[in-house]
Amino acid sequence: MPDNSDYKIATRAVRTGQVRSQEGEHSDPIFLTSSYVFKSAADAAARFSGEIEGNIYSRFTNPTVRTFEERLAAMEEGECCVATATGMSAIVATCMGLLKAGDHVVAGRDLFGSTIILFNNILTRFGLSFTYVDSTDLSQWKDAIQANTKMLFLETPSNPLCNVSDISSVAKIAHDNQALLVVDNTFCTPVLQQPLKLGADVVVHSSTKYIDGQGRTMGGAVVGSKDQVGEGVYSFLRSAGPSLSPFNAWVQLKGLETLTIRMQAHSRYALEIASWLEAQPSVERVFYPDLPSHPQHALAQRQQTAAAGVLAFQVKGGRDEAWTVIDSTKLFSITANLGDTKSTITHPATTTHGRLTVEQRQEMGVFDNLLRLSIGLEDVDDLKRDLQRGLDQLS
Ligand SMILES: Cc1ncc(COP(=O)(O)O)c(C=O)c1O
Repeated sequence: MPDNSDYKIATRAVRTGQVRSQEGEHSDPIFLTSSYVFKSAADAAARFSGEIEGNIYSRFTNPTVRTFEERLAAMEEGECCVATATGMSAIVATCMGLLKAGDHVVAGRDLFGSTIILFNNILTRFGLSFTYVDSTDLSQWKDAIQANTKMLFLETPSNPLCNVSDISSVAKIAHDNQALLVVDNTFCTPVLQQPLKLGADVVVHSSTKYIDGQGRTMGGAVVGSKDQVGEGVYSFLRSAGPSLSPFNAWVQLKGLETLTIRMQAHSRYALEIASWLEAQPSVERVFYPDLPSHPQHALAQRQQTAAAGVLAFQVKGGRDEAWTVIDSTKLFSITANLGDTKSTITHPATTTHGRLTVEQRQEMGVFDNLLRLSIGLEDVDDLKRDLQRGLDQLS
């Protein structure tokens, strides 16, 4: 394929990175191999020393994984991508690759629950410190900076409340203080938001979600410059080993090919459900960035081309009422995953955010009456009828 810059994102999603073998296959091949054969002892030595480029071992490089990395880098418009075994390993590799003991990180308070657990319970044991801020309040980002702050970390829209942070403004705060901005772009994917173009330095993904798109495989990715990602993050991955399996890379390559059209459909259906929920008498509040009632609606309209498929809503009542809605569904899957063709329903306070303290949850707005939906690709009227059953019992 000629230079990526000649092509729009949907074309890159389908075409970038494929290297046809001598068999002339049309679909991307899958290289299920742990190691590679050298032509001679001298060739092996030259590859190990780095004198000659080439595959050695699939913890370091694999052709199917490389195609996935090149395609996602082209979609995010980043110089370099490294793929990881999961989204969490993308986050840990970013921190371990780019930070050192004594460094301080400012992070949005509304990060995914496991990210907060990773930061507070594990990375603090290695000499990193963290300060959490309201990710929508720029003055809190500024005020939290310390002399040793090396990284600002945010997730937008956030999970589960869909808070939207201003990427360009937070990037400016980071750069004014010689720190990096890392953005978790799992919810929007590069189809709906390209944080590097808005000034972020590094993008992380859980490709388990929309990039796979059908709830089959785990994966993650880090995208950014050759220096920070190609050297810093990659050197951690190569030695520590949470690399993406070639099989998962292949499944997710196929996911990238349909990502553009899926993200548009997920967003359209989610907006329809969100607007409908707002009109239901037993619903207290709906959180979805494409609704005019969302506090960062104007920012979301500027920063994202659409709001993706995740939304949250509070029912009137508490945990029992929220559970009634969940237990009355027949179509929605009661599962913690999101970004699937199958719609899912989750009670964050007792699942994804259950390991946080009550105070942490309340500070984040994850109350007991909150439900998270990930809208899949079923018929929207069928999904509304499925939710209606439980909501009717509340009113
Ligand atoms: C925004 C976000 N980031 C990271 C992760 C972690 O990804 P994984 O489960 O692939 O490790 C998740 C998982 O739900 C997520 O929602």
